[in-house]
Amino acid sequence: MKVLTVLGARPQFIKAAPVSRVLREKYTEMIVHTGQHYDANMSDIFFEELNIPKPDYNLGVGSGNHGKQTGEMLQKIEEIVLMEEPDYLLVYGDTNSTLAGALVASKLHVPVIHIEAGLRSFNKKMPEEINRIMTDHLSEYLFCPTETAVENLTSENITRNVFNIGDVMYDAVLYNQKLAENHSNILKDYDLEKNEYLLITIHRAENTDNPEKMKNILSAFSKMKEVKVWPIHPRTKHKLADYGIDLSDIPNLKIIDPVGYLDMLTLEANAKKIVTDSGGVQKEAYFMKIPCVTVREQTEWVETLVNEANILVGTDVEKIVSAVEKVVMPEYMNVFGDGNASEKIVEILKKG
Ligand code: UD1
Ligand code: UDP
Repeated sequence: MKVLTVLGARPQFIKAAPVSRVLREKYTEMIVHTGQHYDANMSDIFFEELNIPKPDYNLGVGSGNHGKQTGEMLQKIEEIVLMEEPDYLLVYGDTNSTLAGALVASKLHVPVIHIEAGLRSFNKKMPEEINRIMTDHLSEYLFCPTETAVENLTSENITRNVFNIGDVMYDAVLYNQKLAENHSNILKDYDLEKNEYLLITIHRAENTDNPEKMKNILSAFSKMKEVKVWPIHPRTKHKLADYGIDLSDIPNLKIIDPVGYLDMLTLEANAKKIVTDSGGVQKEAYFMKIPCVTVREQTEWVETLVNEANILVGTDVEKIVSAVEKVVMPEYMNVFGDGNASEKIVEILKKG
């Protein structure tokens, strides 16, 4: 049985790490890296740190507008699927790489496996929402991280081969937490004390591509006295440069390059609070019981909002500042599975 995995963006490398490890015990897996993310600290570092098998193909597609980026992926993935004739094509999440893989496979009658199926923000202005809906409707196996995701699919009449197996990102956190504790020096490198800094990540297009929203977010950061550590996504870095925004006025702000996963887990686990618009970081904050504020209007990860473990604030300056002051971690609820999502996926696929 041959599985062709298509991936291309940072969070997909992290999701693939636990799944590939288990999948390869039973199946032949080939990896196609679309090249959507390509900087060493957005791609190679994860393959190295997490022992993800080296991609069999790297399409080198790189950045571009949606049509150009997705179109080039479609052409190149199609050639590989025709050549390799896989039994399944596996995709993760909701990026352009996800949609390209699913679209090619379904047209060639190769069954699609979608991991992290069923997520919805109900905001079709997000490219990710379009990618998710399309991919779910093209998929043969839909592996959902939560019960909410299963319900979302049910309401779109997708009920066959839908499984809530828990979150593969939880598998990744459990597997790597100890390694992070033993191998990361990031707190020392940046002179950070446990519980004494805020961790920030911002990269969502709906924020970065809107100068007013970015100004609001930065103005909120200016009002927070704590030390703030911000591993900045290249998209955000480029946009701020385009807008001519200078971050040096923000007190106690440490802007750093994107970090590897073990350093990121360490930054998350030791943060006082996390401020983010990332899907993965919202969940990791929850897994690690760190209070979180999400700078978006909607979230797909509604379980994290229960009892305000994560507060959804949008981009109003005062709302951001007061949510960060107020947020505390309530009682933890185990709603993301048991950390064995990858094993469950492979068991289900084995039964056919
Ligand atoms: C993509 C996903 C988003 C996901 C994010 C994870 C889509 C539509 N979006 O957003 O869902 O949350 O990845 O991080 O698929 N860039 C670099 N170097 C890189 C990669 C990107 O400089 O290695 C810069 C380029 O200027 C590029 C911009 O970042 O234009 C955006 O990259 P892109 O992959 O198009 O989207 P992301 O914002 O990363
Ligand atoms: N991440 C990382 N280094 C960073 C920022 C994020 O390793 O500098 C990890 C983070 O721990 C999480 C994943 O990347 O596992 C989230 O990816 P991202 O925020 O880019 O995308 P999203 O989850 O929003 O799609």
